[in-house]
Amino acid sequence: MSDPAEALLLTRLAHHRDRLQRQAVWVKSALSGDAHQDCLGEAAGIFVDASRQPWDHALRLDLTQLSLVRDLPGHRDAMAAGEVVNASEGRAAGHLRLRATDHELSRKGLDELVRTRRAFLEEAARLRIDPQVQHIVHVGIGGSDLGPRLLLSALGIRGTHLKIHFAGNGDLHELEGVLSLLHPAQCVVVLCSKSFSTQETLVNASRIRAWMDQADSSLFGQRTYAITSNPAAAQAFGVLRTFAFPDWVGGRYSLWSPIGLSAAVAIGPEAFEALLAGARAMDRHWLEAPPEQNLPWQLGLLDVWNRNDMGFASRCVVPYDSRLARFPAYLQQLEMESNGKSTDNHGRPVAQSTSPLIWGEPGTNAQHSFFQWLHQGSDVTPVEFILVQHPDHSNAEAHRKLLANALGQSWALLRGKTIREALGERVKGANPEWSAEQLAPHRVFAGARPSTLLMMDRLSPERLGALLALYEHRVFVAAHMWRINPFDQWGVELGKSLADDIDRRLAGGSLEGCDPQTARWIRRLAGPGGAATQPTGAGSDLSE
Ligand code: F6P
Repeated sequence: MSDPAEALLLTRLAHHRDRLQRQAVWVKSALSGDAHQDCLGEAAGIFVDASRQPWDHALRLDLTQLSLVRDLPGHRDAMAAGEVVNASEGRAAGHLRLRATDHELSRKGLDELVRTRRAFLEEAARLRIDPQVQHIVHVGIGGSDLGPRLLLSALGIRGTHLKIHFAGNGDLHELEGVLSLLHPAQCVVVLCSKSFSTQETLVNASRIRAWMDQADSSLFGQRTYAITSNPAAAQAFGVLRTFAFPDWVGGRYSLWSPIGLSAAVAIGPEAFEALLAGARAMDRHWLEAPPEQNLPWQLGLLDVWNRNDMGFASRCVVPYDSRLARFPAYLQQLEMESNGKSTDNHGRPVAQSTSPLIWGEPGTNAQHSFFQWLHQGSDVTPVEFILVQHPDHSNAEAHRKLLANALGQSWALLRGKTIREALGERVKGANPEWSAEQLAPHRVFAGARPSTLLMMDRLSPERLGALLALYEHRVFVAAHMWRINPFDQWGVELGKSLADDIDRRLAGGSLEGCDPQTARWIRRLAGPGGAATQPTGAGSDLSE
């Protein structure tokens, strides 16, 4: 049962919802520019314009008040102080420490973190100029893969001859494609796994070990690093060099730890330090800025508002820079693995919907695929446009057009197009036998579709660090408002353990206790022409 202050605020939020929706107040005010000043902000070089969202000043005050009544600052500070905020795993969530300065860490007695950071960045610097090494093969999945991949695609390889390759998925096709291009003696392997028990990573690692052993049985030990919270398992696997990180670093928050080794090799230790500094600047803003000007705080509240009061089931993220193509996938794990929960911190069902579906592709590619759906589809989905003000090429005209596209799409989503406007248009490419009245309804846009614009001056390590930290904190805010734990992920377990069970049955185990449909699949896959052999050809179906 909520306390009286909270109950009053919830009633006020319901009034806001009716007011904003009924009169489309927010659309009018966004179009007239009234909302503009209030919903703008900049922190750590990330400029945010959330004025095209279904909220306004009065609502933001009440949402902020509700977060204060629910003691968001207390929870935030508890996390920053290293308290156990991940109750179901009995752990702290210490990713902020990973980007603290050496001085701050030493002051808190966390010298081990300083030593590990120095050691892995020194190793990165050494590898960058090692003439014996031509290739780094990074193996890992989920949080042990998405962050390093994002860094590589966003920031590129800088000042080293090395090439970086990734193998994450358990299907081995990605790895085989990589290995076919390489010679074991030219490679260094970075095995990333917090648990060092993840099936896909061990399958890939075993294949690499066999591939190296064929060339020289001492190579795997000499050329492999493990990055893990479970050094004993890495050692048992035959890895001689390990950079360990504490188990209070969540996998999806681990980019800042030695999990970033391959990325640090590619971009250089100084750039990696700059990434940490950018995140740190955002951390400072999150910890110190007043709630109304605090970007992650406000965006987290907006996320909850859009999900629960506006009923938006998904959020689309469109970076207008192909270097950020991996950003939506990174966010999918960050947001959906963190906040895809239905049980609250007290073990009760969550009364409201939690994390929306996060999806997206770079613009302008996306304009030529799913933007039709965003503009005229039957569901409304808020869009997040990520812009980079200055490109790292010299074609100003191309970049101008790119940015114009992002702004044009955001404006179109909001303003829409009325039937009257559609009737007044002269249209090329329409059926010449149709009248203007027949055509116009197909060219109407409902509008009132929200979007947020985020912009950085350049796609630099600092700005990328700040952007990622902004999203981490925003996820924390939403989790706090939903009263869920963003740092566990029990929902990934069931499917994994059933897969182990099925694997044993596929390998010849009994089918007893198996559900009939799965048993049918097992018989089919384990039989002649099944999983271990080539497909028998077209026309197969699930019938026995
Ligand atoms: O199955 C989900 C998950 O546990 C993620 O949370 C994690 O990032 C990923 O698997 C990889 O785990 P690990 O780093 O332990 O191999």
